[in-house]
Amino acid sequence: MNRLYGRLGFADRVVYSNFVSSVDGVVTFGSGVSAGSVISGKNPADRFLMGLLRACADAVVIGVGTLRATPGHLWTPAHVCPDFATEFATLRNTLRRSPEPRLVILSNRGQLDFDHPALKGALVITTKDGAKRCSSRVPSSCEVITLGTGKAVDIKRAFAEMTRVGYEVVLTEGGPHVMGELIKSRLLDEMFLTLSPVIAGRDKEHRLGMVEGVELLPRIPVWSRLRSARRHGDYLFLRYALPR
Ligand SMILES: NC(=O)c1ccc[n+]([C@@H]2O[C@H](COP(=O)([O-])OP(=O)(O)OC[C@H]3O[C@@H](n4cnc5c(N)ncnc54)[C@H](OP(=O)(O)O)[C@@H]3O)[C@@H](O)[C@H]2O)c1
Repeated sequence: MNRLYGRLGFADRVVYSNFVSSVDGVVTFGSGVSAGSVISGKNPADRFLMGLLRACADAVVIGVGTLRATPGHLWTPAHVCPDFATEFATLRNTLRRSPEPRLVILSNRGQLDFDHPALKGALVITTKDGAKRCSSRVPSSCEVITLGTGKAVDIKRAFAEMTRVGYEVVLTEGGPHVMGELIKSRLLDEMFLTLSPVIAGRDKEHRLGMVEGVELLPRIPVWSRLRSARRHGDYLFLRYALPR
């Protein structure tokens, strides 16, 4: 692992994200198609990094928008990079992690795809109304936690709850709206960004960038620090640190 990516060296408590973007900053398509694999062209180095970042995490957090856009996906290291399944399992064992990272799904309204296989064993964090909508319909192995009585879950409370149950090394795979909330709340410590050498373009379809739902520049600049830049063929693998 060290030979392929170098030492990651995460802090004991950290929240980090992973995205793939086109050269022109597109990370989603409006059609609800799972954008990541299209934008990355299923690049093996990108899939290895996805697997590695999942393998390090106690939990992987996504918003319900990402769940909806990715039917059949499992947020495990081996699902995205099966060739390294054994090495990922060994790494988790060395890091004293559970066999798989826990999937945490954020949903205010509780409108989930109840047949999605990733719900098995997952944790859903939702509002009181959301819990009413989904609790009786999720698989019995899926836990639903209610936070607050309002229309939206306070993301700070959601992350405090994850820390409380022992998830200290947390990966978010988005999507852009969850990223917007994390950056607004200063909860994100690091960002991994794969820059794919493809041009996506924008016209009629609503295509999102990596951070949505918050406007920062010019009033609230959030400057990050480039921790590393790696190149594999025409792809760039960037790692940034953010101020808390
Ligand atoms: N290129 C990449 O690397 C990459 C990575 C990830 C995702 N994506 C793409 O991103 C797209 C989805 O984007 P998105 O921004 O709509 O997805 P998202 O951030 O995964 O989901 C947004 C939804 O999550 C729920 N949510 C957000 N914050 C919450 C909070 N604090 N508490 C509870 N629920 C919360 C809300 O759902 P409700 O209010 O409806 O319940 C919200 O509408 C998909 O097309 C996916 O393929 C791309």
